[in-house]
Amino acid sequence: MRISILFENNEYNVSATGKETILELIQKSDAEIIAPCGGMRKCGKCLVRVENTMQEMSREEERLLGARNLESGYRLACFLHPEDGMTVEIPLQSARNKILTGSNLEMDSFWPAVGIKKIKTEIPHLDRQVSDLGNILENSGMKIDKNNLPLLKKLTEAISSSMNTPTLISYYDTIKGIEYKDNGSFYGIAVDIGTTTVAVYLYNLENGQFTGVVSELNDQKQYGADVISRINYASTEANGLETLNRVIIRQLNELTGKLCSEHGIKKEDIYMAALVGNTTMMHLLMGLDPVNIGKLPFIPVSTEMHDFPAAELGLEINKFGHALCLPSVSAYIGADIIAGLLACRLHERDEISLLVDIGTNGEMVLGSVDRMISCSTAAGPAFEGANIRFGTGGVSGAIDSVGISGGELVFTTIDNVEPVGICGSGIVDAVAVLLDNDIIDETGRFYDEDEIDGGNILGGRIFSFEGLKSFRLTEHICITQKDIREIQNAKAALAAGISTLIKKYHIKTSDVAKIYLAGGFGNYINVDSAMRIGLLPDLPRDKVIASGNTAGAGASMCLLSQKYIDLAEILKRRVEYVELTTDPGFTNEYIDNMIF
Ligand code: FES
Repeated sequence: MRISILFENNEYNVSATGKETILELIQKSDAEIIAPCGGMRKCGKCLVRVENTMQEMSREEERLLGARNLESGYRLACFLHPEDGMTVEIPLQSARNKILTGSNLEMDSFWPAVGIKKIKTEIPHLDRQVSDLGNILENSGMKIDKNNLPLLKKLTEAISSSMNTPTLISYYDTIKGIEYKDNGSFYGIAVDIGTTTVAVYLYNLENGQFTGVVSELNDQKQYGADVISRINYASTEANGLETLNRVIIRQLNELTGKLCSEHGIKKEDIYMAALVGNTTMMHLLMGLDPVNIGKLPFIPVSTEMHDFPAAELGLEINKFGHALCLPSVSAYIGADIIAGLLACRLHERDEISLLVDIGTNGEMVLGSVDRMISCSTAAGPAFEGANIRFGTGGVSGAIDSVGISGGELVFTTIDNVEPVGICGSGIVDAVAVLLDNDIIDETGRFYDEDEIDGGNILGGRIFSFEGLKSFRLTEHICITQKDIREIQNAKAALAAGISTLIKKYHIKTSDVAKIYLAGGFGNYINVDSAMRIGLLPDLPRDKVIASGNTAGAGASMCLLSQKYIDLAEILKRRVEYVELTTDPGFTNEYIDNMIF
């Protein structure tokens, strides 16, 4: 049988046996859909509109959809099975997220590990009997791996070629290949593989010039929104690991191809890729089994720096190109955080600073030139809009800020369109507004009607929704008591991680000189609101720096200079890791931080 999938003005015709779910069929097609719970029928986010179906709605699907989505005619893709002639439409809010690629890259060294050099060799004669290998080494000033047999076989041609001057491709001054190109450019890519988004940056390696960037949602998101769902998929589904590995490699090749055509270069002109991501993403990139990252005692296959011929990873760049995978610290402090440290330069500073990357996990490093300690807390997906009744990612129409102006509740939406839900930055703002205006108390409880002052401008917005006390933001969107609890748990986990590190460093909160907020959420969040709800420590506002995509910036630094590759190795060894699940102080910090 065949079904049609409508996505972003395209129609995909997909054949089906009838046993698959609609979600699985969408995942196999070129269409995109979010599935934060990985199709486990828990999140209620895989919204679709379906025509020509007789499939009845189960109570569970009805409950997950909620009144508003039911009214809009939505169904959930992971509950439905195909029927011949069925048409499935994926709405915008199930498809797109806003992606952050900007960063403030500060470079003080340009010294790429990869090099190209045209050489002139001397024609051998009887009086000067130098081997081809000796001839190349003398004239290039480079080293060679004497056991690289394919390369040895090319040396005679390089010496005797009268038509073209050979170009040597080197890595750390060791010859890796020989090419004969009269024209050609010399480029490299820096890659940040986030659980949610993937960004590829293109640089000219002749002069260090930034050339362009492309980014997309990570295609693996169809197999789960967070690292745990991806680990589950990799370890429990048949060929799960191979699928996730293939999906990310294919996406990187597509993004690289897109950058090349945008900037008029060929993939063969790219000689190096520097790649970062969290430890699970790095495992999936390399095809390493992440199963033990997901369970006690959280042991990855490797946290080392790896350096492969790019072709071995499946990356379609120059055949002599190198793929550098930056190191991680532990299962939950990944190469993206090492890259973030390079970009924020915590390791160089005398003052003690904090780097925080807020996502489903909150990763943080506290330190200075003297010492750096790190931890990761499972904040849960609330800040990404999941587990929130009307939560959504950073999609068009998401309420991204909430405040009071002229005595009225006001909000903004992404792209200034009709609100479709509320994203992380909006929820943080909303909770701060509710606290400031005595709608909820410091324990997160909604005040009873008789406790609310008659003149309270927001008092009339409290109502009961699905049996829960709730606050009406718009006619169709509200924040429930359960949402407040979700935010409370998430912020308590993050704040407890920060205060545990501060205590272990034997300093006071006020001794923290700067807080660098990494990543998308850190960039869009209102810092005052984050401090108001206790997500960030209460410090002077100017100490907090939204630092953009520090992971992409750090990867770019490693692409552009071996100085930073070497430094990444050093940081990997220097950053201490605190495991919070066994830390006796963490639970107490967590309880203390539950209060707003
Ligand atoms: S409910 Fe369908 S993916 Fe979560």
